[in-house]
Amino acid sequence: MCGIVGYIGDKKAQDVLLSGLKRLEYRGYDSAGIGVIEDNDIKVIKSKGNLAVLINKVGDETIGTQGIGHTRWATHGKPCDENSHPHLSENGKFCLVHNGIIENYLELKKELIGKGYNFKSDTDSEVIVNLFQLFDDGDFISTTKKVTGKIEGSYAIGVIDKENSDEFLVVRKDSPLVVGVGRGENFIASDIPAILEYTKNIYILDDGEIALISRDDVKIFDKAGNRITKKLREITWSLESAEKQGYEHFMLKEINEQPEAIRKTLAGRIKNDLVDLNLNMDDAYVKSINKIAIVACGTANYAGRVVGHLIEDKLRIPVLVSYASEFRYNNPIIDEKTLTIVISQSGETADTLAGLRESKGRGSKIVAITNVVESSVAREADYVIYTQAGPEIAVASTKAYTTQIIALFMLLIELGFKRDILDVATINEWVKEMQSVPEKMQLILENSQLIKNYAEQIKDSSSLFFIGRGVDSVSCLEGALKLKEISYIHAEAYPAGELKHGTLALITDDVPVIAIGTNKVLMDKIISNIAEVKTRGASTYGVGFEDENKLIAEVDYYIPIPRISEALAPLLAVIPLQLLAYYTSVVKGNDVDKPRNLAKSVTVE
Ligand code: G6P
Repeated sequence: MCGIVGYIGDKKAQDVLLSGLKRLEYRGYDSAGIGVIEDNDIKVIKSKGNLAVLINKVGDETIGTQGIGHTRWATHGKPCDENSHPHLSENGKFCLVHNGIIENYLELKKELIGKGYNFKSDTDSEVIVNLFQLFDDGDFISTTKKVTGKIEGSYAIGVIDKENSDEFLVVRKDSPLVVGVGRGENFIASDIPAILEYTKNIYILDDGEIALISRDDVKIFDKAGNRITKKLREITWSLESAEKQGYEHFMLKEINEQPEAIRKTLAGRIKNDLVDLNLNMDDAYVKSINKIAIVACGTANYAGRVVGHLIEDKLRIPVLVSYASEFRYNNPIIDEKTLTIVISQSGETADTLAGLRESKGRGSKIVAITNVVESSVAREADYVIYTQAGPEIAVASTKAYTTQIIALFMLLIELGFKRDILDVATINEWVKEMQSVPEKMQLILENSQLIKNYAEQIKDSSSLFFIGRGVDSVSCLEGALKLKEISYIHAEAYPAGELKHGTLALITDDVPVIAIGTNKVLMDKIISNIAEVKTRGASTYGVGFEDENKLIAEVDYYIPIPRISEALAPLLAVIPLQLLAYYTSVVKGNDVDKPRNLAKSVTVE
């Protein structure tokens, strides 16, 4: 996904911009570029490909101390040098980087072409920079207001003006942007890690806000152009926590951080063996809830499915779990008695944010579960539960998933208690089980050699199946997603009882089947489903409790997990699946942390 960084100060801008862009690489991109003011001119250097290509091209080309940089993930127009950012206005006066999508860019482009403008790229972003030229009235703020009055869609924009080497401007709507404050120098970024090396003092811009940034000052204005004062936040993350800390890949580091991430997410929320999320949810409101809608994308959606299952089972409240991209267009049946839970690691996923707004517009209260403080979903929700996973860099989500499940589980307990469905003794029991998760995860992590061997065995398969019953079939979805994302092996998750209705036709001796079995009531069922695929020649792998002897006897290979209450089993069952995907990707020589075609945070629809 696109990343923005900008600098004004006394350092060589290209150095700050390139190091900032490097920190944003994890977001995924296909091209990159910088624009630097020098001698009343703007030097733009950009190229398709990774940062190494750009760094090579930049060399010692620029010496200016003000500039903007960008990593692009193509949305309009293919990845190529011309479509890379920054873009210059036709007269070369303005230079712009943009994250987001301008929905009415085709009309605007037509209008501008009609006025004699020529375009060099296929991007929607070039339209914006030419609008700056069109509306240029000598006043940066008033010009910006005119531009944002014309464009529809989402944007985080950084603009420099070659005739103004003392300041540059940023503006945002529905796409994140922060301003970093230093001494005699200031920064902008779409993500905090890009500038954390230089400053920990950050302004988080809200929708519609504009900031005018000079070496010694940051002036912030609201949508109407009125000067406002904002709170400067001190970011407490260290840069180190966003680095690999000795692991070969961020993904492996993040898989191994899960016990700690679970502990941190529980911390401060367990009192006297009860849960207190400090949400200040009114008891009468909680009792009035007659439906729960869970809205999320990707891995976050599967976390929602795991606990959605349990909410129906334990609290007897109907739960609708939707992909955010579908939910927003499905005319969902939501009203003020629906509680909507949105789940998003980044808190910036465009579809999830749109789903949140859709539900809110229909009168529903919103609980956001997110890993990013002050992210857009956090700011727009009525209640927020922050997961404490720390920055997740690998594109394939791991610790975000398990912390989302634990946060949702705590929410389930709190709702159950307030609705008089769960008694203190039951909650005490569950709390103890939750507290045992980190230690049990650790045991699985220590047993990873076994999984490494299995990765060797499956690495040449062209297709795999993950099968399970009940909530295990949701763990299958996450296991298959992980494997697809980073090993590029086709994998399909199937509710095991459905196999015979068509899918069994695909099972042959070169299609391994991974079966998850953690449910006692359904154990005999999954065992007969395993027998069905074995008969068709499949080699079978099982994931289940360490003492599940019947299951162990049925499969060819087994990955044991420590026993835990069935409700929490998905938190343990997923660890071997994450490791299997990881090691398969490693043996295949893939780019584990940055899989092809994927982005960490999808801030466009
Ligand atoms: C992208 C990521 C996934 C993630 C999904 C939702 O597709 O690659 O790992 O699950 O977005 O992201 P969110 O930040 O909303 O959890």
